Amino acid sequence: MFGLEDKHVVVSGAGGGIGRALVTVFLQAGARVTACDRDPALLAALSGVETECFELTDHEASQRAAEAILARSGAPDVIIGNAGFTRAEGMANVTPAVWDLEIAINLTGGYNLVAPFLPAMTEAGGGSIVFVSSVNGLAHFGNPAYSAAKAGLIGYARSLAVECGRSGIRANVVCPGSVRTPAWDHRLSKEPDLITEVSKYYPLGRIVTPEEVAQAVLFLASPLSGGITGVALPVDAGLMAGNLRFVREIIGA
Ligand SMILES: NC(=O)c1ccc[n+]([C@@H]2O[C@H](COP(=O)([O-])OP(=O)(O)OC[C@H]3O[C@@H](n4cnc5c(N)ncnc54)[C@H](O)[C@@H]3O)[C@@H](O)[C@H]2O)c1
Repeated sequence: MFGLEDKHVVVSGAGGGIGRALVTVFLQAGARVTACDRDPALLAALSGVETECFELTDHEASQRAAEAILARSGAPDVIIGNAGFTRAEGMANVTPAVWDLEIAINLTGGYNLVAPFLPAMTEAGGGSIVFVSSVNGLAHFGNPAYSAAKAGLIGYARSLAVECGRSGIRANVVCPGSVRTPAWDHRLSKEPDLITEVSKYYPLGRIVTPEEVAQAVLFLASPLSGGITGVALPVDAGLMAGNLRFVREIIGA
């Protein structure tokens, strides 16, 4: 149904919460998956995939990893830039070192993943690139450096869409709202009820699941979205549609 049988899909952050859901949906669609992460233990827990362990903030390491992947499995038909990280929750937590780190992982990491594959992808006749950004790339919900990087990722996807479209390459973005993954462990260890609390801000009355994010990525990666390039799609239980608490508590609707 998705037209991805035997297609080669490269996924970064594959050992994380959303990454594991991505691996599952692409394997179910019949794709060959190269799972990338910097954590070898997380990669070892995956089955049915080729793996590549490298640090995405490192240009040379990313280039070497791309060469190894190309030699082993050929040009990717799909690249999913999913790796991400944040700890600096507000402006007061942003130091120069934090800024550099969160831009490096969340923005430069996207470039480092994709750019080394572009010549091979072009030669192969094209492909589909999907980045996992965030609603933080569309509006401010905390984590300033991360948000700037996630907005930058949308800009990079648009650059790819416009400049590489004639090479048959599409580039799109999904912008998840809150998702219960290991990325929330540090917050939940301090405030165990946080998922219940954050759900109140979402029009659907709940947050989205890793599987729902992965399914949206699958759609944008597949020929089903063949006419779509350069878009940023919220997968956010309605968060970006408007402010439900404002409507209820201030307007009284
Ligand atoms: N969980 C959420 O609420 C949420 C919301 C919006 C967007 N996102 C985005 O979704 C993506 C996946 O997040 P998740 O919730 O699954 O988090 P996660 O922490 O479970 O997974 C992230 C994965 O990325 C890997 N990674 C991080 N930095 C890396 C680097 N420099 N080099 C190589 N690998 C690296 C980690 O090892 C980890 O396996 C991220 O881009 C995140 O920003 C998450």
